[in-house]
Parts: sequence; C-alpha cells; structure tokens
Amino acid sequence: MKKTIRDFELVSKKVIIRCDFNVPMENGLITDDNRIIESLPTIMYAVSKGAKVILMSHLGRVKEPKDKKIYSLKPVAEKLSSLLDKKVVFVPETRGSKLEQAISNLQNGDVLLMENTRFEDLNGKLESTNDPVLAEYWASLGDIFINDAFGTCHRCHASNVGIASRIPNGVGFLIEKELKYLLEAVENPKRPFTVILGGAKVVDKISVIENLASKADYILIGGAMAYTFLMASGLPVGKSLVDKDSLDFCRRVLDKYPDKIILPIDGVYSDSLDGKGRIKECFLSDVTYDDIGVDIGSSTIKVFKQYIDDSNTIIWNGPLGLFENEKFANGTKKIMQVLAESGKTTIIGGGDTAFAASKFCFKERFTLVSTGGGASLELLEGKILPGVGVIDDK
Ligand code: 3PG
Repeated sequence: MKKTIRDFELVSKKVIIRCDFNVPMENGLITDDNRIIESLPTIMYAVSKGAKVILMSHLGRVKEPKDKKIYSLKPVAEKLSSLLDKKVVFVPETRGSKLEQAISNLQNGDVLLMENTRFEDLNGKLESTNDPVLAEYWASLGDIFINDAFGTCHRCHASNVGIASRIPNGVGFLIEKELKYLLEAVENPKRPFTVILGGAKVVDKISVIENLASKADYILIGGAMAYTFLMASGLPVGKSLVDKDSLDFCRRVLDKYPDKIILPIDGVYSDSLDGKGRIKECFLSDVTYDDIGVDIGSSTIKVFKQYIDDSNTIIWNGPLGLFENEKFANGTKKIMQVLAESGKTTIIGGGDTAFAASKFCFKERFTLVSTGGGASLELLEGKILPGVGVIDDK
C-alpha cells in the first residue's frame, strides 16, 4: 500500500501537489475541465488541513519558445480559482527568486500554481529527462510531495519521479481512486470479468491483449481493430482499416483463446469516412470489396450486451466505431448505455473512451472513468508506472 496524503501532518507545511492539468484548450480557453475537477478533493483536503499548497503540472509538449504562449497554465489558475472559490496565486515562472518569494509569502491554506513544468524542456528537456539538478531544486521548494497526476504516472519526469525520490511523499485521492479500481479490476476482479477493446490499431493494444487475455473471461473486440482480427479469421472486411503487421499476432491470440475473443458478427459500412457516402448495415457475409467498416452492427450490440449482462466486472478501452460522427456513433453509445444501466463494476480507461462517456452524458454512471490515457493503458498492460512505483509504501 502506498502512502497517501492522509498519512502526513500538513499544517504549516509546504506541500507540493503534482496535478495533471494537461487539459484540452482552444484559443486560450479550456474545453474540458474534467482533470481540474478531479484534482479538487486532494487540493481542498490540503487547504483544509492548513498546508501551504504548491501546485505543479505540465501542459502540452513544449518544443519551441513560441509554445510558451499556447501552453501557459494561467487559464488553469483562473479556472481553479473559480472552482475552489478561492484565490490561486499564479507564478509565471518555473524557477527563480519570484517563485521562491511567492512561496515564502504563502500563509496556511493558501494555494499557488507555478508555470508549466515543461517550459523547462526548452532548456535541454530538463523536465522530461528527469534532470537531477532541476528535480533537486523543485524538491527544495517543498516539505512534502503528493503525486496526484495519474495521467502522467507513466512518465519518469523531474516533476513527478524526480521530486518524489527526494522528499517525503505520498499519493493524492485521485491516484488512490484510480489504482484502487483499475488494479483491483485487473488483479482481483469479481467474475465473470469482461474486457471491451476498441480503437484503431491492434499494435497499440498488443501488450494489453497479452496481459488481459489470460486474466479476463471474455474480450469483446470492436472499433477498427476488429477488422484486423476478422481478416485474421479469414472473414471479409472490404476496404476496412487493417493493421497488416498485426495479423500474425491476431491469429495466435485467436488460436490460443478461441472461446474468449468475441468478434463482431455484423457492422455498419460506408464508402467514405466522413458520413457523406452510402451507409449500410449488414452481416459479415454481405460485406463487399469496397465497404469500409465504421461501427459495430445491431446484432453485435445484442451479442455484446449478453456478455455484459452475464459479467460482474467490465473494463472498456477504445471506442467501437467512429463515434465522433453521429452516424457512426450508435455502437459506442448503445454499449455505453448497457454498461451505465448494468449496476456492475464498470471501468472506462483511455482518452477517447472517456471523451465518448462525457459526450454521451454517461460519465457519472460508471464506477471509474480514468483520467489517464497512456497511464491507464500501461496499467492494463501490467506495467508498474514510474510515478506510482517511486512513492513510498506505508
Ligand atoms: C496525458 O494527457 O496523457 C498526460 O497528461 C501525459 O501527457 P504526455 O503524453 O504529453 O506526457
């Protein structure tokens, strides 16, 4: 068990909380504040215990000086201040006397957010390579380090692993929640345990399939990756996206787990991906050479529903069709509804699937919608995340 923020006396302590405020922005406006909202319980707890709160986060990938304008955390400080209903001191620096002075001015219960940690990447990738001098400097700014940036836990950067390995540390409530549900579901699921996998490429999910195939009772496959599995089974896919390099892998998995891998039996097909071409729904036997698969069909939805109804734990990673287009969203939407109404342990992992859950207004109805894309995927692959591994045990 990892230490958590509850294990520390926080009053008057300078507590660095690493958050993942890597939120989507358009023209300086935050278009989805979910990650900020999910960080609130830990920040509010630290404030209520009288800590001097120093928040750190990255935003985007900072490669050139002009990126500093697009990726400033100032809009996040403003959003956070309105969500907390409290002043958030924003320091547009990642080091130096201005930052140090602002920290020493903090009173118990105050909150400060410093500028994007990846601004340090302009100076020889210091943040992303976990530069020891930078990590030592940031660690010197606080007494305690709390990692609550689950979405960044698969990275070994100065602002997570670097600081944590230098001062007393623990995880925040967000990481605690993500680990509890994701790890428990994978390691000790209430069975039957079903995994739903979608998304574009098999190659992105090979390690997930390898890890979960031995643990899950069923793996339901949709999205574009289904066409690679269907082709590997000798079934017609028309012009659907096929990840040819993964065909051998799919054949091996299908041979090893013939009763576990459940493939679509029908689909929605079009001759173009923009929704403007002809659209038909048919069984696999009626797929013609110029059909492109864009969604699972209604008979597949019924089959998948049956497996979900019979399961007690369901993890879903990757959409089942091109859900961004309303015409191809039915499969993803219907299966989300089945899950939302199932009353089972339901875990949504991965950026696109989490986005679909918000878009179709099911987000509140799942046991967990992970805030981590790459991080949740690596956890499902069975990897130890560096940002978690570095945290002290109780
Ligand atoms: C994410 O959005 O997946 C995390 O914030 C990590 O971002 P990164 O892929 O830029 O490291």
